[in-house]
Amino acid sequence: MSTILSIQSIHKTFEAGTINENHVLRGLSLDVEEGDFISIIGGNGAGKSTLMNSLAGTLPVDEGDILLEGKSIKQIPAAKRAKEISRVFQDPKMGTASRLSIEENMAIAYRRGQSRGLSWGVKDSERHIFAESLKELGLGLENRLKVDTQFLSGGQRQALTLLMASLVKPKVLLLDEHTAALDPKTSDMVMGLTQKIVESNQLTTLMITHNMENAIAYGNRLVMLHQGQIVVDVQGEEKKNLTVQELMELFHKNSGQALANDELILS
Ligand SMILES: Nc1ncnc2c1ncn2[C@@H]1O[C@H](COP(=O)(O)OP(=O)(O)OP(=O)(O)O)[C@@H](O)[C@H]1O
Ligand SMILES: [Mg+2]
Repeated sequence: MSTILSIQSIHKTFEAGTINENHVLRGLSLDVEEGDFISIIGGNGAGKSTLMNSLAGTLPVDEGDILLEGKSIKQIPAAKRAKEISRVFQDPKMGTASRLSIEENMAIAYRRGQSRGLSWGVKDSERHIFAESLKELGLGLENRLKVDTQFLSGGQRQALTLLMASLVKPKVLLLDEHTAALDPKTSDMVMGLTQKIVESNQLTTLMITHNMENAIAYGNRLVMLHQGQIVVDVQGEEKKNLTVQELMELFHKNSGQALANDELILS
């Protein structure tokens, strides 16, 4: 295995020099191996989304470096990074353009990195590819190619967004609480699809979750963030054998934050 993404002592401070100065990422380092599926947990404000924003390039880091396949991407703008780093957000509305159809959204994702965009419409050959991959979701969306995504449910939209994120294999997939806005049953469905898509495409994935059970059940590695640093990094058998109880204790010990059930309390 080789390191595909190397996060090297990154720092991020918001509102520097003001009374609200907030040093959010504090020398965070992480080497991500090719094929790693890492679940990331941490309390509110620990810096999880800021880390993903830094990787995606929507926020510049102040110090440190981020290497993708050995090359610094620190100066590369977000739009360009998006060709190699896919992202799924918590809000189902963020992942697709609501007034475009399923096939149009998929065409945009499919042509990522090419200059053509949507100008030539959706080709029959593409339509066939889209329908075949939609079948894998098992949601019947392959029969609704011309339907605008605004008419899909939150779960259907997240499933579609995931599929789009992997249509052209990204080097890294970022999931920021992508099931948190869904009801428990739909969340389980989307988590199952996540597992399937990550495995079948062997995607290197970072997944933020507040759900301890999911953090243990999914992925080969688990990382805990606290005050902008990684305080726990377990993998393999050690991760597999973790119980929710142990993880809650570990979380409490390292963050001093309280927990309710298996969810981190929202402060
Ligand atoms: N663009 C921004 N401008 C100013 N402050 C910000 C900005 N983005 C994040 N912050 C602050 O940085 C801190 C970390 O935020 P971040 O969103 O990374 O936390 P998180 O770990 O994702 O938390 P949550 O679990 O609530 O999603 C918070 O105090 C937040 O208010
Ligand atoms: Mg967040």
